Amino acid sequence: IHVDWDAVTAEKGGYEHFMLKEIHEQPRAYRDTMLGRIDHDNHQVVLPELKLSVEQIKNIRNVQIVACGTAYNAGLIGRTVIEQFARIPVENDVASEYRYRSPIITPETLVIVVSQSGETADTLAALREAKANGAHVLAITNVVGSSIARDADDVLVTLAGPEIAVASTKAYTSQLIAFYLFGLYLAQVRGTMTKDEIAHVLAAMESLPEQVEAMLNNADTIKSYAEHIAKHKHLFFIGRGQDYAVVQEGSLKLKEISYIHSEAYAAGELKHGTLALIEDGVPVISLITQESVMEKTLSNIKEVKARGAEVLAISYEEHAAELLKSVDHVITIPKTLPVLTAALSVVTLQLLAYYASLALGHDVDKPRNLAKSVTVE
Ligand code: AGP
Repeated sequence: IHVDWDAVTAEKGGYEHFMLKEIHEQPRAYRDTMLGRIDHDNHQVVLPELKLSVEQIKNIRNVQIVACGTAYNAGLIGRTVIEQFARIPVENDVASEYRYRSPIITPETLVIVVSQSGETADTLAALREAKANGAHVLAITNVVGSSIARDADDVLVTLAGPEIAVASTKAYTSQLIAFYLFGLYLAQVRGTMTKDEIAHVLAAMESLPEQVEAMLNNADTIKSYAEHIAKHKHLFFIGRGQDYAVVQEGSLKLKEISYIHSEAYAAGELKHGTLALIEDGVPVISLITQESVMEKTLSNIKEVKARGAEVLAISYEEHAAELLKSVDHVITIPKTLPVLTAALSVVTLQLLAYYASLALGHDVDKPRNLAKSVTVE
């Protein structure tokens, strides 16, 4: 018998592209990143690898999260998580901007740098700037021996495994898991959440891998919607709160591999200018999972519908029927706590970008003009 074989095909493990393989590896990446970091008997997070002392944690006055691209987008979720769990003010910075804005850093500032590769030049330079100014720097990275891991004071490793596709997927979601764990850890030490509240979040986190598996087994609707948007040149993403942070990642992913132009907007911000771009048939993808602001987002959806947009809403099953009265399509995601929703909703957007790129015949794993690791400033 003759068998076609080459090393790359073997590495893809039966998947057509590394990106699809890595999307499918997410349940395992979630589990591995949580493994050994949850004390089930005492319902708490254990991070013995951290040098950051209890006293230092109690003294933190502010957090700055610095990263590039998808890692920056993960940091946007990190902010909502740390602010909600530990009630510490958080700023997000794009690493290439951080050094040049003279950031206000004190010994009570915790700087978190996020980087899959651990080699991104801008992030490394930001880390060095933060350290030189006296901050304690924690790196969230996927590569243990990387430059960023070596230079940081503390490292929280994500266990996503090697990521080959230029478009980052499982690294982003593992970074979210790291932020959930770290946010809970801060809350434990600072006493901003009760034991029951922490146990409740941990239980929901442990359901995430299975929920992602269910989503991956149900990707047909996403695929056909992706084939539909592949015919368009421009589209918009909208959302509020966590959903806004997630659509920024969804928009980046779509641009990166499908070359369809898209912009992600805070749903309430459209009417301050961008609404002028909405005309007949423009797709608007609305992520609408945060119940506290659902009514508000719905009225923003109606604003774009009234200008001719064709709207897809991504939400929970329980809202589907109601949403269908106002939108053209609905895609549902499994239910989780509002603070954890990004770990599920982003999977829909990753698949959307993947299938759009596939439909357009692009090189999914190696998009034009881009490198996996950006080691120049
Ligand atoms: C993600 O899809 C991109 N390829 C890119 O934005 C990437 O996340 C960014 O360059 C940062 O890389 P890092 O996480 O290795 O630092």
